[in-house]
Amino acid sequence: MGYINKGEVFIMSKRQPKWLDNAVFYEIYPQSFNDTNADGIGDLQGIIEKLDYIKELGCNAIWINPCFDSPFNDAGYDVRDYKKVAPRYGTNEDLKRVFDEAHKRDMHVLLDLVPGHTSVEHPWFKESMKPEKNEYTDRFVWTDHVFMDTKGMNTLRAISDRDGCAVLNFFSSQPALNYGFYKQEEPWQQGMDDPGPEATRLAIQDVMRFWLKMGCDGFRVDMAAWCVKNDDENRTGNIYFWNKVGKFLDEEFPDAAMVSEWGNPDQSLQGGFHMDFQLMGQGTNYEDLFRCDEPYFSSRGKGNFKAYAERYNKSVAATEGKGLICIPSGNHDIDRLARRLKGNELKMAFAFLLSMPGAPFIYYGDEIGMNYVEGLISKEGGYQRTGSRTPMQWDDGLNDGFSTADPKDLYIKMDDAPDRPNVKAQMADPSSLWNEVRRLIKIRKENVALRSKAKVEFLETGYPLVLKRSCKEQAITVIINPTNEEKTVDVHGTIIYACGSAKLENGKCHVGAGTAVFIEN
Ligand code: GLC
Ligand code: CA
Repeated sequence: MGYINKGEVFIMSKRQPKWLDNAVFYEIYPQSFNDTNADGIGDLQGIIEKLDYIKELGCNAIWINPCFDSPFNDAGYDVRDYKKVAPRYGTNEDLKRVFDEAHKRDMHVLLDLVPGHTSVEHPWFKESMKPEKNEYTDRFVWTDHVFMDTKGMNTLRAISDRDGCAVLNFFSSQPALNYGFYKQEEPWQQGMDDPGPEATRLAIQDVMRFWLKMGCDGFRVDMAAWCVKNDDENRTGNIYFWNKVGKFLDEEFPDAAMVSEWGNPDQSLQGGFHMDFQLMGQGTNYEDLFRCDEPYFSSRGKGNFKAYAERYNKSVAATEGKGLICIPSGNHDIDRLARRLKGNELKMAFAFLLSMPGAPFIYYGDEIGMNYVEGLISKEGGYQRTGSRTPMQWDDGLNDGFSTADPKDLYIKMDDAPDRPNVKAQMADPSSLWNEVRRLIKIRKENVALRSKAKVEFLETGYPLVLKRSCKEQAITVIINPTNEEKTVDVHGTIIYACGSAKLENGKCHVGAGTAVFIEN
């Protein structure tokens, strides 16, 4: 991997935190996870109290969505103070305890870094709005005048006496921090190495340093591909930018783990990220498997895995060895897995998620098949995402054990489906999704060929799905048959895991309807 630096390329040392080789992540949306002071909103103490639960499931790392001071116009992705925990979640000391308690349990913690924009209420932006030139004038992207063409960029216009429009990154409350433009087409578009963009980079590195020093193990990076503006299609500018940040990490925090919200590992791993997510609609065909009209893992058996596999193979060829391609069960931005897949289909989806390379990410509640709750009124900029952000369902008590607050005071109302799942009941039921996910994580951890870095080959991409995981110590064939019909596959070896009915004799495996089976070859 190299940096592109004014025409030169120099090779950076390969940081690769060892713990990622066997990491299984759990994403926590803090406001909906566990409320310990009855205000209806989850909190850091609530996370601490559930670390043993997460560990029991088998996850050894967590990603916490933004928990920083914010007016919560976008659920915390609009940061007002990068170095302060939002009081509703607790204090900085509480967050330090999250790190310490996680480390005691041999777990790691990623925070969510939002480098692309702040809240309009951030003091940097307030300074930047002033007409007099000051330290923050170039911290955000501004045009030179209020009355001018903004070149297709969304902006805030005439919000202060500063004569200019402030470029937006996402919602109208999220002005874009200034990391410069890859292609400068207007006088107000600064270069990537100009003093304003450089100062912004140093400021965001300072934020990273603050939390890494306190004990955080790295970051999930919000909208990482969109920091530098007017980039080319290969995202050369953003790759350049992240390599500069990578150099800082190399020097000061070589063990920090970085996962990007980018959606194209071919690019992001060149930027020095260790991991990238597959996202909806970014060309990885992720949606074909879980979130389209005929998802591959539906028992109807009308899905298509082929395009996904082809794209995946291309990414592997482009990134080999550089980092991990991570397939999330879901996240706070997309429909719950259980919106399109039900019952046993969810087990089939998890058999896939937990037997693929990369580090798996389980979105809180997906391990019990929590529903996407339809028809909710938007909360804190959630809009249609709100249905995937409802309170965790722990047990059959008040508010399903999430909070002892009056139900009308909850952050988002509970799913009220009479058959909604909960953790307590599923832990007690050996045939539950929760217990299947736990078994799958356990088998993954025990078999080196199933872990993050071992190779994958897609042997059959119709039905059933047949894939082979291998490394120098071991080879495992994974067969997943989500359909309603038995399938037969030619294969030799020993069954080490089965969910459903599988029989292996004379080089033939009979894989029952809705069955997943792992065979050591
Ligand atoms: C990312 C986050 C999303 C947020 C947006 C703006 O996509 O995942 O929740 O609204 O960035 O920060
Ligand atoms: Ca609380």
